Amino acid sequence: MSKEYIPPKPQARADKVSIFAHIKLFRKDIFASQPAKLYRAWMAEYRLPFFRSYFINDPDLVNHVLNKDPDNFPKSEIIKGALYSLLGDSVFVTNGDVWKWQRRIIDPAFEGGRLRNVFPDMHAAGLAAVARLGPLADNQPVEMEAQASQIAADIIFRTLFSIPITDDIAEQVFEKFREYQRTQPLMNVASFLKIPNWIPKLQGRRTRQTSADIRKLLTRLTEDRFAQIQAGTAPDDLATKIMTTKDPVTGVTFTAAEMVDQVAIFFLAGHETSASALAWTLYLLSVDQKAQQRVADEVTCLDDLSFANLSKLKYTRNVFRETLRLYPPVPMMIRETRQPEVFRKRKINVGSQIVLSPWHIQRHERLWDRPDVFDPDRWTTDETRKCARKAYMPFSSGQRVCPGAGFAMIEGVLMIAMLIRAFKLEPSGKPPVPVAHLTVRAEDGIHLKLTTRGSDTSATQTT
Ligand code: HEM
Repeated sequence: MSKEYIPPKPQARADKVSIFAHIKLFRKDIFASQPAKLYRAWMAEYRLPFFRSYFINDPDLVNHVLNKDPDNFPKSEIIKGALYSLLGDSVFVTNGDVWKWQRRIIDPAFEGGRLRNVFPDMHAAGLAAVARLGPLADNQPVEMEAQASQIAADIIFRTLFSIPITDDIAEQVFEKFREYQRTQPLMNVASFLKIPNWIPKLQGRRTRQTSADIRKLLTRLTEDRFAQIQAGTAPDDLATKIMTTKDPVTGVTFTAAEMVDQVAIFFLAGHETSASALAWTLYLLSVDQKAQQRVADEVTCLDDLSFANLSKLKYTRNVFRETLRLYPPVPMMIRETRQPEVFRKRKINVGSQIVLSPWHIQRHERLWDRPDVFDPDRWTTDETRKCARKAYMPFSSGQRVCPGAGFAMIEGVLMIAMLIRAFKLEPSGKPPVPVAHLTVRAEDGIHLKLTTRGSDTSATQTT
């Protein structure tokens, strides 16, 4: 494998197409509906009779929207409408003062010290994953996206509620979420067009029923946990931490109903994204055997995979960073203008949709050197770090930055290390084609062949 390996990239559409052709492509897949020039442009405007949307790649503008003046660029109401039946008023969709008090309660649960506490649960999930995959390591194709989803879901359940994915309720929630995703892709045309969410095709009866089923299960978990907290028997996990944290400003805690909204988003945002990142990383390592061997060598040099040792996995971490650059699990984010703006000398009306695209900015031809090349070593240079400060945002940036970013970086590096220590990976079949679903996924899955690496897969772990 040469150093200049260029992994799969969706085919761009022609620069000029009719509105109808554009909408048709849009409905199929957002990536395929974008022209190649968007990887060079600083801004693009989409005008339809009933809506305006602006794609911004200019780092100064992105900084303005996310960091300098975020209160004037709230989350789009469309997203809230599209996800309301599942997420209610969760932190992912609220704005203003409600959002601020939710973050004041949630953020402490994800601080560094707490991450050390949840590390043993992540490690236990890693061991379970290695045990599950062991019988499949016989050189037959394994669909890794589904496997990665299960691993990430297991981690969320263990760290949030101290239960593994094999728990009866956890298993049901996982299954129902899969059903939900099949009926309600987040990155659909409705997210970009101002189509009211009461239009039946966007929120079908099946989607609403699945959401109700998921929320019923999450309510059971949450109410049981409230009872355990009151009885003084609750485990010291993320759910207990969040449910017992008082807002430092108002002194109130989440009610059970408010907590159900948050649990729904932790599960959705926390497992879909991590699963996408893990599956693409494993794919890249399967194709780039040299990189895979370097990860394996780095991991086997460690005595154990402890929390303290994780920071020694520098190359593995760079592999994960580079994957998040090329395949950011959240490919695009949408904000709305609350007041008239001027972007690059163009007037932007109130209520316009502003699209921020980690996918495009992280592959931007005027910002990145060899933007489509998979090169984990680029992360050792000052040049990359300088570029990353303005053009790398897999976890977003500013006040609405992903609260789970630290969690996800530990989880990602640990899972890569444990899986590569146990298995050799090879690609199987045609290269995957990236599509924007709820997160960046492969059109027909990611198929890999696994064989046992031959090392001791039950290696110990300490914190
Ligand atoms: C590789 C893994 C992950 C990636 C790439 C990722 C990325 C993101 C991004 C880009 C956003 C901002 C979305 C927007 O503004 O529209 C976000 C928000 C969020 N993420 Fe993550 N995330 C990951 C893992 C996690 C995990 C593990 C958790 C929790 C356990 C989590 C919880 C959340 C929540 C609650 C929000 C909403 C924050 C707010 O709006 O204030 N994420 N994430």
